[in-house]
Amino acid sequence: MSATVREVVLGVGAGIAAYKSCELLRRLQDRGYAVTVVPTPSSLNFVGSATWEALSGRPVNTQVWDNVHDVAHVSLAQKADFFLIAPATADLIARITAGRADDLLTNLVLATEAPLLIVPAMHPAMWLDPATVENVRTLRSRGYVVMEPEVGRLTGTDSGQGRFPETSAIIEKFDSITGNIRDLVGKRILISGGGTREAIDPVRFIGNRSSGKQACALATAALLRGADVHLVAANMSTQALAGATITEVESALDMQRVLMQEFPQCDVLVMCAAVADAKPVMKFTEKIKKTFLTSIELEPNPDILAELAQIKKGQLMIGFAAETSDHLESARAKLVAKGLDAIYVNDVSNGAIFGKETTQGMILSRTGADIALKEVSKDALAHLLLDYAAGQLG
Ligand code: C5P
Repeated sequence: MSATVREVVLGVGAGIAAYKSCELLRRLQDRGYAVTVVPTPSSLNFVGSATWEALSGRPVNTQVWDNVHDVAHVSLAQKADFFLIAPATADLIARITAGRADDLLTNLVLATEAPLLIVPAMHPAMWLDPATVENVRTLRSRGYVVMEPEVGRLTGTDSGQGRFPETSAIIEKFDSITGNIRDLVGKRILISGGGTREAIDPVRFIGNRSSGKQACALATAALLRGADVHLVAANMSTQALAGATITEVESALDMQRVLMQEFPQCDVLVMCAAVADAKPVMKFTEKIKKTFLTSIELEPNPDILAELAQIKKGQLMIGFAAETSDHLESARAKLVAKGLDAIYVNDVSNGAIFGKETTQGMILSRTGADIALKEVSKDALAHLLLDYAAGQLG
């Protein structure tokens, strides 16, 4: 497995379109990019550092004089795999063309060797001014990709060429540069998510803390990459998942029934759900009176993944493990015992990861080196697992 999280610097110039880059940042994160925002000082008039820090979950600096001990203009330039500057104003384009280094962003552009996409947005008169035309030509001749702004209404009453392109168009262009291709078209990906509930009586159940966020991230990422996605959702929200087939289930036995039916047709199974290991022997049809609720006799649930492995015919199987101790040893043992191709083990001690936007742990696979992940978004993990799946599917 050679995949790593793709680090992006999102440079933001001082145009009113800066507010649209908040949405752009979100969509980049959905696609598994890890994004550091570097605004120009004057762009903070439009969108402030607090917004960028909250959305990116990372510190935001505008000058080389912030956090000098980090030497950010060098370290960030080296860490970034790709640069995206959106919006790029006429002034920012002129400064990059001239090789100036008067804020952190322009320092970074000079110091990096990463591919750079520039998305201009400005008044048509400024876009068509010979100075800008010449600057854009120069930047393109240096190998930078400069998008054409869209034609239409501007902030005032004027119209013409200068509008910030639609987020989807920017993402499409950026993906073509980063190689984030639709590599799962025609592939059927079956994902289980959430946590099963094992009924005690009509009111009470045995459950677990799984929120289903990781399964949503996997389904979203697989849809973006062109897959047919079927999500078997146990007690989780599936609102934001347009385009996926969703089957809602409650208990482990419900989930087993659906997965047994769907598994033969899939190319990849990602078993992300937290399946209860045991269920009450008796399911009462009436609510148990408080005074009789003293003990619950349990019996094991079937191990769905292990059973599916018995009937697999070439499907790729990826499991999850949540551990509070001996993470690696037990994950490696499960990889073999359950007949999996890969497993992601996360450390859930002290309530970490459940319900959060980020995860940390390790991907172990039968082929290739293990990948240790230190606090990455669940979207990024989803893309890493799908990178692995796409690689294996050839
Ligand atoms: O054994 P453990 O529960 O840690 O294994 C975790 C993996 O096995 C997860 O992928 C989970 O979805 C799956 N599993 C299952 N059936 C069970 C328990 C876990 O398929 N009864």
